[in-house]
Amino acid sequence: MTVTHTSTLDLTLPTAFFVAAESLAAVRALLPDGLSLPDTAGGDDESWQHLTERQRLWVIGLGPADQLSAERLRRAAHKQLGRFNEGKHPRAQLALVGISDRAEADDWAAALADAAVLSNYQFLTYKKEREKLRYKLDELRIHTDARGGAQAVTQAVAVAEATCIARDLVNEPPNVLTAVELAERARQLGLQHGFRVEIFNKKKIEELGMGGLLAVNRGSQTPPTFSILEWKPDGAKNAKPIVLVGKGLTFDTGGLSLKPTPGSMDSMKSDMAGGAAVIGALVAAAATRLPLHVIGLIPSTDNRPGEDAYTPNDVITHYDGTTVEVLNTDAEGRLILADALAWAKQYEPELVVDLATLTGAAVVAVGTIGIAMMRTASDVVAQRFVQAGLAVHERVVELPLWPEYREQLKSEVADMKNIGGRYAGAITAGKFLEHFTAYPWVHLDIAGPAFLESADSYRGKQGTGVGVRLLMRVLQQWGA
Ligand code: BES
Ligand code: ZN
Ligand code: ZN
Repeated sequence: MTVTHTSTLDLTLPTAFFVAAESLAAVRALLPDGLSLPDTAGGDDESWQHLTERQRLWVIGLGPADQLSAERLRRAAHKQLGRFNEGKHPRAQLALVGISDRAEADDWAAALADAAVLSNYQFLTYKKEREKLRYKLDELRIHTDARGGAQAVTQAVAVAEATCIARDLVNEPPNVLTAVELAERARQLGLQHGFRVEIFNKKKIEELGMGGLLAVNRGSQTPPTFSILEWKPDGAKNAKPIVLVGKGLTFDTGGLSLKPTPGSMDSMKSDMAGGAAVIGALVAAAATRLPLHVIGLIPSTDNRPGEDAYTPNDVITHYDGTTVEVLNTDAEGRLILADALAWAKQYEPELVVDLATLTGAAVVAVGTIGIAMMRTASDVVAQRFVQAGLAVHERVVELPLWPEYREQLKSEVADMKNIGGRYAGAITAGKFLEHFTAYPWVHLDIAGPAFLESADSYRGKQGTGVGVRLLMRVLQQWGA
C-alpha cells in the first residue's frame, strides 16, 4: 500500500473525515450539495456514514479539539482502515479538517500515516491462501491543510514501514530466522537502503573473546553472529556516534535451565525483537536520511539445552575480561548484551541505547503497554525518551539503578553472577548490564510490548516492531 499526503481533496474517493467537535462546520462546508450532517456527527467516537454507489463518506467524531491526541487518531484511523478493507476499496482517503492551525497538526497527520501503514500490516509469508487473505487497499491519501503535512506524512510512512520490517523479522519462525539468517537479512537491508553492514562469524567472535555470546551459543545447532550496522551520512551533526544495541536471541528455550511452565516458551521467537528494532531503526535512518552518525550492534544466537550447552556453575569470560558465574542459563540475554556493550566502548559513543526482551519481571511491572527504562545517561536524555514515548505511544517508565541492587549480583567465585535474587528482576538485569557500560547509556527492557498474543488496534498481534518509532523520534530531535 502506498500512503501519500494530499492538499486537495478528491471526493470521488471513499473518504473519512476526522473531525473535532469544533470543526463540524468546516466538514459541512466540504460535503457535496444536499448532503446534511446531523449535529451529533462530531460527537465523541461517533461515526456518520453516507454510503451510495458513487459516494462513500464517513465522518468520524473525535470529541473536543483540546482533548485530541495523536494516539486517539491512530486508533480511530485503525478502525477506519478496517471499514475501507471491509468494503474492498482499492483506494481511499483520510482527511483531517479544521485543525491545521494547531501546533500539533503535523504530528496528527503523521499519526494517521503511522496507523495506516501499521494497521495494514500482515504477515502472510507462510500462508498458502496468501492472495485471498491480503487486504485490498493499495492506495491511501491523507489530506490535511497543515503546512508541514506532506513532510510529516512522508517521514512517518518511512518509519512505519521500517517498523513493519522489524515486525517481519520478529514474526519469522526460529527454524528460518537463525542467527546467521538474521545477520543476512540485515546485510540485504543494508544493501537495499544504503547503510553499511559488517558481520562477524563464529571464528571472529572466538578471536575477539566474546565469551557471553559463545557460551549461550554452545547448545545451538547454528553458529552465532555479531552484526555491526552503520549509517554515517556526510555532515552528520554528531561527532561521536550514537550506538544502538539489540538483543538478537532468535529463540529462547531457557537452555539447561529450561523454561518451566507450559506456554512460557510460546512467544520466544520474539527474543530477537531488540535486534529487529535496531535493524528497523537503521533502515528508517537511511530511508529518511537522518543527519546523525548511528551504529547498530546485534549479538545473535539461540539458547538451547543442546549436548554441549553451557551449564549452571560455568564461569565465562566476557569481551572486556569480566568473569561471570552462570547460575541460570535462562538469564542469557544479559550475557550476549554484555559483550556488545563492552565492544561499544571503542566508538567513544555520545550515547548507547540497548533494547532487549530481557526480563519477565519487566512484563510483570508494566505489562504489554510499557517499556522499562534504566539509565546512566543524563536527566535531559531520559526526559527525551519519556517525551518521545508519549508522542509515539511507546511509553517509557524509569526504574532506578540504585547501588544497593548490585549486592544481589555478587558471586562466590567470579566477578559477578548472572542472576539477582527474587526481587527487582528487571533492575538486577539492568545492574548487570551497567557493569559493561563506560559511557552515557539507556537500557530499554521491551519484554512486554515486543510481542502481543492478541491484536491491539494498529499494534496488531505477534511482533509489534516496538522501539523503531521511539528511537526515531528521539533521534529526529537529537541536537535540536
Ligand atoms: N527472554 C526472556 C525474558 C522474557 C520473558 C521476554 C517473557 C519476554 C517475555 C529472558 O531471557 C529470561 O528468560 N529472563 C529470565 C531471567 C531470570 C532467569 C533471572 C526471566 O525473566 O525469567
Ligand atoms: Zn532467557
Ligand atoms: Zn531471553
